[in-house]
Amino acid sequence: MSVPATTITFQFNDGQPAQTHVAASGESVLDVALNNGIQLQHNCGGVCGCSTCHVYINAGGDDLPEISDKEEDFIDRAENPRINSRLACQCVVEADMQLVVTVPPQHFLGH
Ligand code: FES
Repeated sequence: MSVPATTITFQFNDGQPAQTHVAASGESVLDVALNNGIQLQHNCGGVCGCSTCHVYINAGGDDLPEISDKEEDFIDRAENPRINSRLACQCVVEADMQLVVTVPPQHFLGH
């Protein structure tokens, strides 16, 4: 029996159309974004050591791994943290999840 796929829908605030991508178990929201050419900063390389991969989880957040104290600390330092804020590198998915994620505006140095 095949396991139902996990999908992640990425939404943007800058007018880009939303994109939905299939994710494999063990991939993080950050992995799926980067694999699909979605710009999402990740200054620490995805080890819960910064707050640049901050996203908002609009749906499916209850299925994600619980937020750690460390992740919470970094979210506090992110821009406009909200109740549904997460660090994308810490949102590792399993099978059969349907996530909807908003990617906040990305500020790239030099832009
Ligand atoms: S990339 Fe640094 S915390 Fe996610």
